[in-house]
Amino acid sequence: MLNDTNTPNNTPNGGDLELSWSEDAPKGGKIVLNRILKDGANVPLFFAQTLVSSLRDQGYNDTTSALCEHVDNSVQAGASEIRIYFKQMGKPGAYKTDVAVLDNGQGMAPNVLKVAMAFGGSMNFNNRSGIGRFGMGMKTAALSMSPLVEFYSWQEPKAIYNIALDVEAIGRERTNNVMLPDPELLDKLPDDVADIIQKPMSVPRDRSQQTLLVDTNGDLCEVLGHSGTVIYMPNCDRLSFAKANTLVDHATKEMARVYRRAIGEGLRLFINNRQVTAFDPTYSMASARHRQYLEEVGTKDSKLITAKLLDIPIHDSKDSETAQVKISLYKLPIEDWHHLPQKTLRNDLHIFNGQTVSILRNGRELFADRMAELTTRHSITHWFRVQIDFPGELDEAFGVAANKQGVRLKGYVKDVIKEGIGEDISTVINEIRRFQSEQRISAKAAKPSTSESKATSADPHQARTLSLTLEEEEQIEGNLRTLAVSLKRPNETDDEAFERVKASRYIIQYVHDEYWPFYRAERRYGRVILSINTAHPFYSELYDPLRKLDVLDITGDEENNSAKHVRDQTGPLVALELMLVSLARTQAGLSLENEDALLTLETLQREWSESLRIQLTA
Ligand SMILES: Nc1ncnc2c1ncn2[C@@H]1O[C@H](COP(=O)(O)OP(=O)(O)O)[C@@H](O)[C@H]1O
Ligand SMILES: [Mg+2]
Repeated sequence: MLNDTNTPNNTPNGGDLELSWSEDAPKGGKIVLNRILKDGANVPLFFAQTLVSSLRDQGYNDTTSALCEHVDNSVQAGASEIRIYFKQMGKPGAYKTDVAVLDNGQGMAPNVLKVAMAFGGSMNFNNRSGIGRFGMGMKTAALSMSPLVEFYSWQEPKAIYNIALDVEAIGRERTNNVMLPDPELLDKLPDDVADIIQKPMSVPRDRSQQTLLVDTNGDLCEVLGHSGTVIYMPNCDRLSFAKANTLVDHATKEMARVYRRAIGEGLRLFINNRQVTAFDPTYSMASARHRQYLEEVGTKDSKLITAKLLDIPIHDSKDSETAQVKISLYKLPIEDWHHLPQKTLRNDLHIFNGQTVSILRNGRELFADRMAELTTRHSITHWFRVQIDFPGELDEAFGVAANKQGVRLKGYVKDVIKEGIGEDISTVINEIRRFQSEQRISAKAAKPSTSESKATSADPHQARTLSLTLEEEEQIEGNLRTLAVSLKRPNETDDEAFERVKASRYIIQYVHDEYWPFYRAERRYGRVILSINTAHPFYSELYDPLRKLDVLDITGDEENNSAKHVRDQTGPLVALELMLVSLARTQAGLSLENEDALLTLETLQREWSESLRIQLTA
């Protein structure tokens, strides 16, 4: 071919070039291209007719993440309220779904609206301090869902500017240079858009969950206020789920987390008229959803183990400037939470959803998932969380693409982070492991431990017995059942716990509390309850090392270890437990005799604990 100078295709006008475009390709685009090929006319940098269609495939992970582009813009426009609507009509298999986003941000003046509609048009181009920066989001995200997008924006009441982006209409244009039309001025929103705002959605079915901005009797114009924007995507042809229900649930779940900071700072976000409460995967935010469940069961938040500021180079070179990243490591309170029902842990708190690492850019989350390079693949990751906050200056370092579909950390960034927080993570992992292995041992037994049984069988030989009051005697069954529930070990049923508590006069349990003495003694219904505090250095310096020795003795293969094997152990740990159990027995007995003894013994316990703590740690 190259040598053949006589091929017809080499004629200057290229008249015989055939475009192998598909039947449904934009007709206008074909005409423009053919004309240019034929005439050798000036070529625009972008062929609008085809590009606008290609941009529909910009690659959003799902409908929710495309909608996040609009929420980003609304937040950046200073909105205090944002509403997202999924309006569905028709029958299964033939649904028609209109999607809209409404905000009360600063709105856009007509010229701004026009510029904003253009690809690359941005009022914040490459500004790293906010959320937007690429001048693409609003358009590509909207088109990724629907071939027609209508924008409405106002900066004073009853003066709404409207402009539409219509992929098919643009495809029909026969000009080399497609221009945007001027926005049209309307005095009110068109009926189809107004209806979305003023009429309840079909989901959530329970209408009481929907708080309309205004109903059909109200004054829409008034509630739209002085400024705001609506983006309306009628008849969406590309949505990640067919049913409005699923779309609503997915968007609610994701946005609750992605915008948790903004919501925490007062943003009111509604999806199909139901307000979204923040979900915090680190379980530390005061206003987040988990609080409600924890309050119900009366337990606490996660614990901030460490928060570090790391300087990360903007580029991977020696003389690069740096920007600061904040890394926070949280440990979930496994000691308090492990006994919560699986339903609460799984469906309410969502602790098993694998969101160990959460990465936020300027307060907006971009990533929430496992990150094996930073943590580990083990299921242990359910019980701690890493939160990384980075500024827009580090976009390249964190690998943020124009459509904000996640992050791709550069190798050197991972290294700095590992260096900074790796050891702390290992420490937390070890703590969690230790707790879990402890639980496994005690859970396997569902029976009294060696020291508990020894103490019980020694009881008849004691000078003073653990007698019950008459009243206690009468209600012993019921009381022991109640007591057993509070002393229940993981994997133990209520009945098993009851049998264990009934069979044993001595019960050892573990608590974790910074402000507690190293042990605590109680007597209830003829039982002596010894609580060992895992937060006191007595535990980490003496009890736990002894316990570990015992565990190691029993062999490495925990799974095949019979509970019997564990219970047969008699060693220093059992002796230490007996020392504490006998102390608890004595203390609880004397305390019952009179108030003075109680106070004195409590003072002894507290001061002894404190002086031991100082000696062990100073
Ligand atoms: N809801 C909105 N309220 C006010 N202005 C908006 C809104 N959405 C978009 N804009 C304007 O449109 C411009 C383009 O938006 P977009 O395509 O998402 O690019 P970017 O956010 O990267 O600037 C923004 O810079 C902003 O000025
Ligand atoms: Mg944007």
